[in-house]
Amino acid sequence: MARLRAAWLAACAVAVLPVGPVWAEPVADRGELVFKVAGCENCHTDRENHGARLAGGRKLATPLGTFYTPNITPDAVTGIGRWSEADFRRALREGVGPDGRQYYPSFPYTSYTRMSDRDIHDLWGYLRAQPAVHQADKSHELPWYLNFRPLLRVWKWLFFSPGAYQPDAGKSEAWNRGAYLANGAAHCTECHTPRNKLGGFQKGLFLAGTLAGPDGLIVPNITPDKQFGIGAWSKADLAQYLGTGNRPDGDCAGSLMAELIDNGLKYLPQTDLAAIAEYVAGQPASNNPARKAGKGAKKRGKEDY
Ligand code: HEC
Ligand code: HEC
Repeated sequence: MARLRAAWLAACAVAVLPVGPVWAEPVADRGELVFKVAGCENCHTDRENHGARLAGGRKLATPLGTFYTPNITPDAVTGIGRWSEADFRRALREGVGPDGRQYYPSFPYTSYTRMSDRDIHDLWGYLRAQPAVHQADKSHELPWYLNFRPLLRVWKWLFFSPGAYQPDAGKSEAWNRGAYLANGAAHCTECHTPRNKLGGFQKGLFLAGTLAGPDGLIVPNITPDKQFGIGAWSKADLAQYLGTGNRPDGDCAGSLMAELIDNGLKYLPQTDLAAIAEYVAGQPASNNPARKAGKGAKKRGKEDY
């Protein structure tokens, strides 16, 4: 794990006062809210090296190789200043660039594809209004056989199902709202579902956690399994965690989860946080033993690592 992560590993996402957790004020601008919840800035700003906002360059180490995020500021030469809204929608919805290039799924369009046209429209409006930064993109460092982008068509055929979220008429409005957020902008599955050797999600292990997550992190099982998942958490516990970083055992969210909460999820209205909790708690339990010692380990005992 990167040394620099340590700075926020131990920190609570949001300060806790003696009276209880502090909830952030929801963001009024829709585009900004979508942007925050989707975590665009987390990946597209190289915070570790004090890089310019949204100018890219953040290193993403994956089992398949090292990616450097591109510049997504409105700079006409090095950013996406010449893109149309249709280009942008296609990138998120289909994982294809304006020049027809196929994107690697290290850009989580596999989830963003579920976003509504309206959310994509508002997000585009917000992005367009950010300062342009002139900074050229860095090349990814990938094994030769992955450098050939047209091959990604095969990957997509195997593992990608494009299209906006379609509500399930048999479920409640809250469940559907939660499903929309969790599977779309908030992209829970990108980190919490284990992947196979080709980087596709493993079937039957939705949100079941992985020992080989992004940046080599252990990403916990968040299915309702009592032993390995978060079956001991109430829906209110989960909503509170997503909004504040406070765990029911008194500990705090760490690493990438703290980043996602602190820069994004905490700005969601509480009804949306409750909706995500409703949806996540309603998923099938899996006893996949993915979790880190210390995170709920006291209650769970020896099987943790
Ligand atoms: C997990 C990290 C991650 C997150 C989160 C992320 N991106 Fe990216 N994004 C990438 C990577 C990596 C690429 C490069 C993919 C490639 O080269 O095929 C990329 C590529 C892009 C591109 C294509 C740029 C170009 O020059 O072709 C756009 C546009 C983009 N992202 C916008 C966004 C937006 C908007 C969000 C939030 C909704 C977002 N990204 C969230 C990692 C991320
Ligand atoms: C960028 C990767 C990433 C994304 C996206 C992400 N998570 Fe996490 N999540 C993590 C990591 C890493 C941890 C472990 C954090 C820690 O060490 O405290 C975690 C921890 C958690 C926990 C605590 C579980 C436990 O038993 O300790 C819950 C609950 C959770 N995430 C829910 C979610 C939900 C719901 C979403 C989508 C709204 C989501 N996460 C999206 C990476 C992610």
